[in-house]
Amino acid sequence: MLGAFAVVMLAGCHGPFPQSTLTPRGEFAALVDSVFMKTVYLAALVFVLVEGALLFVLFKFRGKPSDADPTQIHGSTVVEIIWTIIPAVVLAVVAVPTVRTIFATAQVPTTSPDGQPPLKVEVIGHQWFWEFRYPELGITTANELHVPAHRAVDLRMKSNDVIHSFWIPQFAGKRDLFPNRETRLWFIADLTGEFPGACAEFCGTEHGRMDFYLMVDSAAAFGAWVDRRRADSTLTYMGLPKNPADSVPLASMDPKVAQGKQLFTTKTCIVCHSLSSMNPLRGQPGPNLSGIGTRRMIGAGWLPNTDANLRDWIEHTQTVKPDVLMKGLPPISDDEAAALIAYLRTMR
Ligand code: CUA
Repeated sequence: MLGAFAVVMLAGCHGPFPQSTLTPRGEFAALVDSVFMKTVYLAALVFVLVEGALLFVLFKFRGKPSDADPTQIHGSTVVEIIWTIIPAVVLAVVAVPTVRTIFATAQVPTTSPDGQPPLKVEVIGHQWFWEFRYPELGITTANELHVPAHRAVDLRMKSNDVIHSFWIPQFAGKRDLFPNRETRLWFIADLTGEFPGACAEFCGTEHGRMDFYLMVDSAAAFGAWVDRRRADSTLTYMGLPKNPADSVPLASMDPKVAQGKQLFTTKTCIVCHSLSSMNPLRGQPGPNLSGIGTRRMIGAGWLPNTDANLRDWIEHTQTVKPDVLMKGLPPISDDEAAALIAYLRTMR
């Protein structure tokens, strides 16, 4: 029994723990973790004292069958006052770091460790994907939140439909997104890497497939990413910016890519999805697809971005992620899907 118990318990010791709030990264998470650990230590102390007193009394005053009945009493004002005051004092002690942290986390830093002002990002929750807009950079993207390390990130969050909840377990608290009401959250990432995030509020049938990735880049890598996104604006199509891949004339494109480019329009993908980060059109129903060729995941953090998964997604969206808006489209053959994928892979 002990061996089986040990296996179950010790299995939890094997990392890494990308979705654990107990491995905090960055300043916001460290503040919250500090309050949590103080409370845990205090609770452990209370537990030891209370259980210790209980065990002591149980053994010290245990009865024998020959004992006479003890004196029967009812209530004790002194004892009741004592056990009301002690928890009140404990809670007052816990309240000090808690309130201090609430104020600290509510205050968006005005500067960052790297000396830059905070990076503003608008987060918009959709059923069921995440839209990220960088108002100062004019960039819109989806499901991959790129930020530079060592820079404060100032998130302004809203929902497009129902209530969602933004959560990057290792970086920031969980905060709800509402329609027509802005909520704020900030964090400072102290290391680069890829960190999973999720929607943490039930928001419909596909709530469980509303994930995203936080990509913390070095300052240089973030700059390069921004440049790639902004390059999208160098060309226009009917007055709207479009992707640099489109600068190549159809005739000189790889035939597969050229076919995919045409299908993107004729199969009506273009109605809901923009391939450009700089597209000024707002309120498109589908996620922005800028750089989709090199994104880590598709379907809002749901599937690895492989050709096979992308083909499944394009051909059988309603099987892969039932209820998403992408339905009732013209049927697409394997060949056409392959052409679309070849075209999408050019979006880097
Ligand atoms: Cu969005 Cu749950």
